Amino acid sequence: MCGIVGFSSHEKSACEPLVNGLRRLEYRGYDSAGVALESADGIKVVKQRGKVAELDKLLKEELATEDERAKYTVGIAHTRWATHGLPTTVNAHPHIADDGNLALVHNGIIENYATLRAGLEKRGCKFVSQTDTEVLAHLVATFDKGDFLSAVSHALKQVEGTYGIATISRRHPGEMVVARKGSPLVIGIGEHETVVASDVSAIVAYTRQVIYLKDGDIALVTPDGVSIYSLDNAPVSREVQEVDWDLGAIEKGGFDHFMLKEIFEQPDALRNTIRGRLDKSGATAILAGLNLTPRDLASFRRVAIIGCGTSLHAGMVGKYLFEKLADMPTSPEQAAEFRYCNPIIGPDNWIVALSQSGETADTLAAVRESIRKGALVSGLCNVVGSTIAREAGRGVYLHAGPEISVASTKAFTAQVTALLMSALKLGRTRRLSYSEGARLVDEIERIPELVGEVLKQNERIAEVAAKYAKADDMFFIGRGILYPTALEGALKIKEVAYVHAEGYQAAELKHGPIALLSEETPVVALLADIPGKEKTVGNVQECRARNAPVIGICSEGDSAAAEHVNDAIFVPKTSEEVAPIVSVVALQLFAYHVARLRGCEIDQPRNLAKSVTVE
Ligand code: F6R
Repeated sequence: MCGIVGFSSHEKSACEPLVNGLRRLEYRGYDSAGVALESADGIKVVKQRGKVAELDKLLKEELATEDERAKYTVGIAHTRWATHGLPTTVNAHPHIADDGNLALVHNGIIENYATLRAGLEKRGCKFVSQTDTEVLAHLVATFDKGDFLSAVSHALKQVEGTYGIATISRRHPGEMVVARKGSPLVIGIGEHETVVASDVSAIVAYTRQVIYLKDGDIALVTPDGVSIYSLDNAPVSREVQEVDWDLGAIEKGGFDHFMLKEIFEQPDALRNTIRGRLDKSGATAILAGLNLTPRDLASFRRVAIIGCGTSLHAGMVGKYLFEKLADMPTSPEQAAEFRYCNPIIGPDNWIVALSQSGETADTLAAVRESIRKGALVSGLCNVVGSTIAREAGRGVYLHAGPEISVASTKAFTAQVTALLMSALKLGRTRRLSYSEGARLVDEIERIPELVGEVLKQNERIAEVAAKYAKADDMFFIGRGILYPTALEGALKIKEVAYVHAEGYQAAELKHGPIALLSEETPVVALLADIPGKEKTVGNVQECRARNAPVIGICSEGDSAAAEHVNDAIFVPKTSEEVAPIVSVVALQLFAYHVARLRGCEIDQPRNLAKSVTVE
C-alpha cells in the first residue's frame, strides 16, 4: 500500500535506483508515481498519474542526458495507492513545501490532517492537493529551524495516524530523514550508498545488509550510513541483518506474470515451509518459533485464527484442521471485525495471526488487541522481520519466498501447510494418536510433490478456462474443509479476471442463490474424493437441472464424480487435510487463464494493492 524509495550516494545518480526501486514496489500501489531529486541547484520533482513505466519515460524526457542525471545523487520516490484524493498528478507524491525546497513521500494515513491543514492554512501555507501527506510536508518546513531531524520529529509528534516517510530538503544537502509508525521501512547499507524502501525487494539489487526500522524510529540517512533515534531524540540501536534471498527471487524468470511464476513455485515454496519441521519418530511437527511448551498447548481452551482476504480463507481451513486433529474449538475471524467486536479472550486463548505481508493494518490491530487482553499470540507470516511477526514475538515463518503478484497464491498453500503442522503439533499434545500423527507426517511430506502433479494439468485447465472465459458470473461450491477453497477460488477470479464470483457452501446454494443459475453461470464444484463428496455431487445435479454448466475439481481416477460434471479437472487423490491445497492450485490456474484470456492486468489488478496498511 504505497511504496517508498530513497537513495543517497556521493557520486552515483539517484535516478536509476529510484525508478528501479519503484518498479519492485509497484505491487504496493500503482495509480501514480513520482520522484524528488536533490542537487546543488535545488529540488526537482517529476510525478505523474499512471504507472512507473510512464514516470520513467517522463523522467528520461526531463533529464535527457547522463550529465543531467548525474548531478542528482540524493532522492526520494513513491508509488501510490490512493487513500485521500483522486489518483491524479497533483495528488501524486512527492509533495513539496517551503517554496519547493522540501519534498516528502508518505505511506499511511494522517488521521488528524484536516485539523492540521486548517492550522497551517491560517499561518499562510498554500495547499495544492487533496492529500493528507501535503500537511506533513508543510509541518516539517514550519518546524525547520536549522536541524532537519528535529524538524521532522516535531512534525511527527503532531500527527495522529500511521506513516512511513522519507523527506529531503535543499536547506540540508545530502541529508534524508526517514521515519516509521505503522508502515514498514527498511534501510539498506551499501558501500558509500544508502537505500531506503518500504520493503527489501527494492533494496537487494544494491545490498543485502539491511536494518528494519521499528515503529517510533526516525533516522538520518546519508551516503555513509544511518543514525537512528526515537522521536524524543534518544539514539536507538538496531541490528543490521542479512537478507537471505537474491534478485532472482523477485524477477519473473521466464514466466509471463508473477502470478503464474508464483503458482509454479509452490512445490519449492512448500518444501521450504516444511523443511526441518517434521519429526518422524515423534509423529509430530517441530515448530520451534512457536515457543510453546506442551503445558502451554494443553492450557488452551480456544483458538482464534485471524486474517483478511486470502489469509482469512486459509484460517477457515485451519478451523477444520484444529477441530479435527486437536479437538480444539477454533474460530476463523476477519481481523477488523474481531478487533472491534470486543473479543472475549484471555490467557487460555491462542490467537494465530495469518498474514503473508505481516503488515496488514487490520490484522496488526487485532494482534495488538489480543496481546492487550492477555491472549497468547503467534504470527504465521511470510515476510521475515515484518511488523506482525515481530510484535507477535513468536510464530512460524512460511518461507515461501517473496510474493510479488497482488493476488496471493503460494502464501495460501504455505499458510494451510503451516496450519496443518500447527494442528498436528497441538493434536499430538492432546488426543491425536501416534499412528494418526505418523500418517499426517507422511501426508505433509508429500504435499510439494502432489502440488507438482496439479501443475501438470496446466494445459487442461487453460482449455477449460477458454470455454468459460466469457462468463460474467460464476459460483464456486464446496463443503466442509473445501468450503474455504470455494471462497478462495471465487476471490482469485474476482481479483484477477474481474468476473463476479461467489463462493458458497454447496448445501447453501439451494437456499436462495440457485435462483441466479442459468446456462450462463458456470458453477465450479470442489469434488475431491473426501467425506461429503457424495452430497456435493447431489448439489451439482441440482445445478445442472437448472442448466448451469459445472466444472468439477475431481480426484484422479474418480470417474464416478466426473461423469456428473461438464468439464472435469483432475487433481491427485489425497487425505481430507491436504485436499484444499491441491484443489486450490487448480483454481489459481483457472483464474489465471480466465484473466489472461480476458486481457486483464494480472499482476496489478485495478483498485488493488498488496499489503493493505490502512484500516
Ligand atoms: C488476495 C489477497 C488479499 C490478501 C489480504 C491479506 O489475493 O492478496 O486478500 O490476502 O489483503 O494480506 P496479508 O496476508 O498480507 O495480511
